[in-house]
Amino acid sequence: MAIYRESSEAIRNLYDGERVHRDAYLSTEIFALEMERLFARRWLYAGHMSQVPQAGDFITLEIAGTTLLMIRQADGGVQIMANRCAHKGAMLRCQASGHVDRAIQCPYHAWSYRLDGSLLAVPLREGYQGSHLATSEAAGGLTRFQTAVYRDFVFVCLDPNAAGLTAQVPAELLGCLDAMADRSPLGRLEVAGPCLRNVIECNWKIYLENINDTVHANVTHESSALSAEAVWQRTQSAAPSALKKPMAIEQLLPFSSGSDFMEKMGGRVWAGGHSILGIHASLHSDYSSVPGYEQAMIAAWGEPRAKQILAWSPQNALIYPSIAFKSAPQTLRVIRPLGVSRTLVEIWAFRALGAPDILLERTQTYNRIVFSPMSIVAHDDVQVFESIQRGLAGAGNEWVSLHRGQAGTRAADGSRAESESMATVGGTDERLMRNQYRAWLEALVMSDTASVESASAASASAASASAASASGASASGASASTKGIPAKRDSGDAPLVSSAGVTKS
Ligand code: FES
Ligand SMILES: [Fe+2]
Repeated sequence: MAIYRESSEAIRNLYDGERVHRDAYLSTEIFALEMERLFARRWLYAGHMSQVPQAGDFITLEIAGTTLLMIRQADGGVQIMANRCAHKGAMLRCQASGHVDRAIQCPYHAWSYRLDGSLLAVPLREGYQGSHLATSEAAGGLTRFQTAVYRDFVFVCLDPNAAGLTAQVPAELLGCLDAMADRSPLGRLEVAGPCLRNVIECNWKIYLENINDTVHANVTHESSALSAEAVWQRTQSAAPSALKKPMAIEQLLPFSSGSDFMEKMGGRVWAGGHSILGIHASLHSDYSSVPGYEQAMIAAWGEPRAKQILAWSPQNALIYPSIAFKSAPQTLRVIRPLGVSRTLVEIWAFRALGAPDILLERTQTYNRIVFSPMSIVAHDDVQVFESIQRGLAGAGNEWVSLHRGQAGTRAADGSRAESESMATVGGTDERLMRNQYRAWLEALVMSDTASVESASAASASAASASAASASGASASGASASTKGIPAKRDSGDAPLVSSAGVTKS
């Protein structure tokens, strides 16, 4: 029986501004609505231009139950289209990546399509005489979806009515992609190898919340950090004290940073669920300098911009609902929900072209020791995530608490006063997660014909007027901002729309 599809009030009851009801993580109906009303309407990560360098190169992916082809076009652009034959729906390509010369031929009855998805040829053409094929949907070829390219990162939106990428994603967040690309003295990145994949038996939102969770680091990962510390001490005592810290040690030791440090990291949230964690510092702030790199950056970008780029290493930038990345090290995670309690996380490493190899080594080492299924950090998290999923399904307390970090957000009458707009927050605030649920609720209570983006766009921080063209197929290399990196601002908080209609207790 459909509870949530028929009732916005029932959905509103799942989040009261401080708590999330367990059904948000357990209900298959909610999961289906998330795919329809959130994932199918947002700009999501598809891939990187470097994965499809030649015309006809393609990758395949799946978003919200729709299988997709991302194909490099003859004009150098890229287009994302349904990986679904217009004849009877067969999947055109099953492999993760590949190449087609001039046409994509269906493996079932050999209908073929041009690189732009238009119908090229149908076998036994004379058999269609007298039919309405020419005016049918099939004659239109493959369904093309909105595709946007930003600094070679390719995004797709399944909703043809959605506003463009820059209307949905704050310019400051796109600036973090600029900061990642500009770590290359040439201003270009390329994907380094296939991604690491981690399939976790938990709801996708449990993973997403954790991207903004600093409090767990020195608890959940205590054994990893302390082991690294013990190894480092033993190494030092056995060898001259001038020993340079190995890369893995340098990356693991900060996981034991105390709550004070985590709080001071700071964060920033935007309407639409977006955020940056670590606007003042992060676990990456104190990585050792790379000989010659700073000089190469100054030569490429000029001293002010080079210093700005090198100083900017937030913990996580989050383009809601499914893209988390770091400007440095150059890594990007994509959350691909597979089911209500099953989530795939893709972990991509990028090479900064023209930069010393040690930067890529740093990225790949971080991905291996922190994010991969075989890492000594991620399995700490995975064990907890999967236990949460099991625990929520059991009897007892039906609510997840997100109460922390409310100071200064209550009006005199006790009502909540968290802002819809951009705000700066403490690094341990659960407001970073509440901000996700505000966007989640907004998306889910919209009717299935309403445009989430129009609401998001209206309240999002101003998109950069100088942003790259982001709707339609394009292959721009332009920046959202030549400065790119977000500047510190006052919060500009405004009174919050309260979550009316909460009746559960
Ligand atoms: S399903 Fe593709 S040609 Fe028939
Ligand atoms: Fe963790």
